[in-house]
Amino acid sequence: MPANIGRILRRATLACLLMLLAGLAPVMAADTPTVLITGASRGIGLELARQYADRGWHVIATARDPARAAALREIAASHERVHIEQLDVTDFASVDALAAKYRGKPIDVLLNNAGISGNVDVQVFGRLDYAVYDEVHAVNVLGPLKMAEAFLDHVAASDQKKIISITSTQGSITQTNGGNLFYRSSKASLNMVMRTLALELKKRGITVGLVSPGFVKTDFTRGIDLPIMITPEQSAAAVIKVIDGYTLDQAGTFMRHTGQVAPW
Ligand SMILES: NC(=O)c1ccc[n+]([C@@H]2O[C@H](COP(=O)([O-])OP(=O)(O)OC[C@H]3O[C@@H](n4cnc5c(N)ncnc54)[C@H](OP(=O)(O)O)[C@@H]3O)[C@@H](O)[C@H]2O)c1
Repeated sequence: MPANIGRILRRATLACLLMLLAGLAPVMAADTPTVLITGASRGIGLELARQYADRGWHVIATARDPARAAALREIAASHERVHIEQLDVTDFASVDALAAKYRGKPIDVLLNNAGISGNVDVQVFGRLDYAVYDEVHAVNVLGPLKMAEAFLDHVAASDQKKIISITSTQGSITQTNGGNLFYRSSKASLNMVMRTLALELKKRGITVGLVSPGFVKTDFTRGIDLPIMITPEQSAAAVIKVIDGYTLDQAGTFMRHTGQVAPW
């Protein structure tokens, strides 16, 4: 072996040893990405957690009540890189506490999935329940915004630098066909919030994205059975593919799970 190659190898070995001694595992940060998912107890969020875990990612899977999230706990039991954290996205003190707990930990994909529709019977003009509007807005709009603010440094420190929110084509203003006033307006508002953030954060190399997951058979759509509906497994696989391909150039684009651009 030429002397200079031997010297390089010895130096590389020494550098690795020093990093290990300093508590820095050289392969961790660069090789294994991390995703943080809100609302991972069931539905699409649960399936997103499962599929990222199967890929070997570090998954910070949040649930409002981990004790009731049996399926998520099963995933964590068989995937050592899955960590379950309690989180209600409307509880800003808890959001800040979780961000502090993970201070210094790069998060490649912050995935705002948690969302509610609110009781549809009180979303009809003439008998609107404004308290329900507040609740839907708090979970679907303020929650993702607060998450983005609290975890910005974690995302900025990562390789992939993505903040993705699960939206809905029901938030499309140009293509609305009425109904679900609170839910629709919350997703339209989420779209505007994230589009605005996308412009601001693009300068820092952070990709803010919006992905609609399709029409999915979950508790959210209970009682509806239409041929166009897909399973949470299909939805999560499609959403992950869109997130993988989401580039900084596309930041702020409203995407369907199919990879097509959705109309505002
Ligand atoms: N299903 C569809 O066809 C469809 C279509 C378009 C968009 N989406 C969007 O996809 C996302 C997931 O929907 P899904 O169908 O999986 O609904 P889901 O089965 O009803 O699950 C909703 C998830 O959100 C969580 N959640 C609710 N309020 C929360 C809060 N305050 N803080 C934290 N987590 C909260 C729930 O936790 P708990 O278990 O504690 O209640 C649950 O994990 C939502 O943003 C929804 O708007 C769904």
